[in-house]
Amino acid sequence: MVISLNSCLSFICLLLCHWIGTASPLNLEDPNVCSHWESYSVTVQESYPHPFDQIYYTSCTDILNWFKCTRHRVSYRTAYRHGEKTMYRRKSQCCPGFYESGEMCVPHCADKCVHGRCIAPNTCQCEPGWGGTNCSSACDGDHWGPHCTSRCQCKNGALCNPITGACHCAAGFRGWRCEDRCEQGTYGNDCHQRCQCQNGATCDHVTGECRCPPGYTGAFCEDLCPPGKHGPQCEQRCPCQNGGVCHHVTGECSCPSGWMGTVCGQPCPEGRFGKNCSQECQCHNGGTCDAATGQCHCSPGYTGERCQDECPVGTYGVLCAETCQCVNGGKCYHVSGACLCEAGFAGERCEARLCPEGLYGIKCDKRCPCHLENTHSCHPMSGECACKPGWSGLYCNETCSPGFYGEACQQICSCQNGADCDSVTGKCTCAPGFKGIDCSTPCPLETYGINCSSRCGCKNDAVCSPVDGSCTCKAGWHGVDCSIRCPSGTWGFGCNLTCQCLNGGACNTLDGTCTCAPGWRGEKCELPCQDGTYGLNCAERCDCSHADGCHPTTGHCRCLPGWSGLF
Ligand SMILES: *[C@@H]1O[C@H](CO)[C@@H](O)[C@H](O)[C@H]1NC(C)=O
Ligand SMILES: *[C@@H]1O[C@H](CO)[C@@H](O)[C@H](O)[C@H]1NC(C)=O
Ligand SMILES: *[C@@H]1O[C@H](CO)[C@@H](O)[C@H](O)[C@H]1NC(C)=O
Ligand SMILES: *[C@@H]1O[C@H](CO)[C@@H](O)[C@H](O)[C@H]1NC(C)=O
Ligand SMILES: *[C@@H]1O[C@H](CO)[C@@H](O)[C@H](O)[C@H]1NC(C)=O
Repeated sequence: MVISLNSCLSFICLLLCHWIGTASPLNLEDPNVCSHWESYSVTVQESYPHPFDQIYYTSCTDILNWFKCTRHRVSYRTAYRHGEKTMYRRKSQCCPGFYESGEMCVPHCADKCVHGRCIAPNTCQCEPGWGGTNCSSACDGDHWGPHCTSRCQCKNGALCNPITGACHCAAGFRGWRCEDRCEQGTYGNDCHQRCQCQNGATCDHVTGECRCPPGYTGAFCEDLCPPGKHGPQCEQRCPCQNGGVCHHVTGECSCPSGWMGTVCGQPCPEGRFGKNCSQECQCHNGGTCDAATGQCHCSPGYTGERCQDECPVGTYGVLCAETCQCVNGGKCYHVSGACLCEAGFAGERCEARLCPEGLYGIKCDKRCPCHLENTHSCHPMSGECACKPGWSGLYCNETCSPGFYGEACQQICSCQNGADCDSVTGKCTCAPGFKGIDCSTPCPLETYGINCSSRCGCKNDAVCSPVDGSCTCKAGWHGVDCSIRCPSGTWGFGCNLTCQCLNGGACNTLDGTCTCAPGWRGEKCELPCQDGTYGLNCAERCDCSHADGCHPTTGHCRCLPGWSGLF
């Protein structure tokens, strides 16, 4: 309070004090309100005994004065003067460290409480998550709460909420304090990601990376070890030989057919084949067996799945691929092809006839009955005739029956449309009107005859016969090449129909319709022109006066009696 109270009048001072002091009275119950006594002076009228000299008389012996003596004495009377008086009064104000705010005394913090509240002089109460004298520093990662006094409980690198202390787990962890790893099969932030690992691989709880079990590889362990590798990280080399496949986990070799042993280094023993060489070969007649497939490789002269069959007649040797060379009915040995000749023949291929040409019999004294020009051979013992192709009969003097040709007339002709078949070669000679190897193709248009080599000469759209080139005329035409119109009075196919047109009408040679002469009409020109008309198609009009119509042909008027002239 700056006002000097000593110099003011009491009532003014009171007013002033009231006005300058609290706007509203402080609540004395407020524990933060303090009071003290304050002195002040007021100017007052004060009375005081004012001394003065008082004269009075007394009897005395002073004759001179008539026995009255004058006397002095000090007397007092009440006087007034201005005086100053010191007074005291109780004064309320906020205690030190507090200041007024409304009716209240609130604490004052010299440093503003940045994230908090001033609760006592120069004392801040911080909001959770803030600390420091003025609550301006955020809690460090390891503390939380008001003034950062609580220690975070989060594990595994989790962040701690500075306000609530709740743990925000790092990727790969979960739980109230992030103390647990993600459950199997999950990973990542909040363990929200699903592991993609296959084949029993474990999944990194943080990154989801797959750790493959032995035998597997690939980002998700989805692949078996590449060929030639096995085991953990597919780092081990496979020992298998000869195409053996190595187990992706154990490295154990699975041998291909035909091989055995731990590293497939041994071929199957004789007589066995297949996986593990566990199957028995089935090849007969000295055939050997493919160690892998069991397929038989037959020895010469044999064939069949298990080499169980001799070569078919006429063949011999390896795979029965050789053709027997034995002739004259000699039998061929299926292994070597050696010939076993019939009686009467000799030579490596039995090609030598023991009797001279044309003779037969044990003594070669009989004459062969065969027609030698058509005969392949005459049997030296029996005299039997073997005919050349195209011939048959006991004596080889008969041609093949129709439709057959060749060796022993056993082959069937393919010639069609009445063609001739060569009894030796089977070659077709086509009938006129056809061509082609088997004579199945008709001659092309406008050709005819043998080999279709002739050109047709038909005229006027006539149809030409591919066989002989004869012409079938269209209606209205005749003649060998159909070049002649039907004679007058006929029409139609072969000019066989007679015209029906009357009165000099002409006949259409194609359809027989009539074209009437002038003055006539009707389908057969059987009607004259109607009265008043004349001429071609009765198209003209008569132009007569005083007449009974006009002549249907010329148009000349038929004058009435008494009239003449053309019109
Ligand atoms: C709070 O206090 C810090 C030091 O304790 C000081 O650097 C900063 O300026 C203060 N902030 C305020 C707003 O007073
Ligand atoms: C091959 O032999 C092994 C061990 O002797 C056996 O486990 C496997 O089943 C055999 N495989 C076949 C195809 O016989
Ligand atoms: C074939 O010849 C025999 C004997 O030489 C003869 O009797 C027969 O008539 C002949 N046949 C023909 C079709 O020529
Ligand atoms: C038909 O053609 C064949 C072969 O092209 C030929 O040999 C034959 O002589 C021909 N025939 C006629 C009649 O032209
Ligand atoms: C024409 O008439 C004759 C005799 O009546 C007959 O033989 C012939 O087949 C006929 N021709 C046609 C193309 O009708």
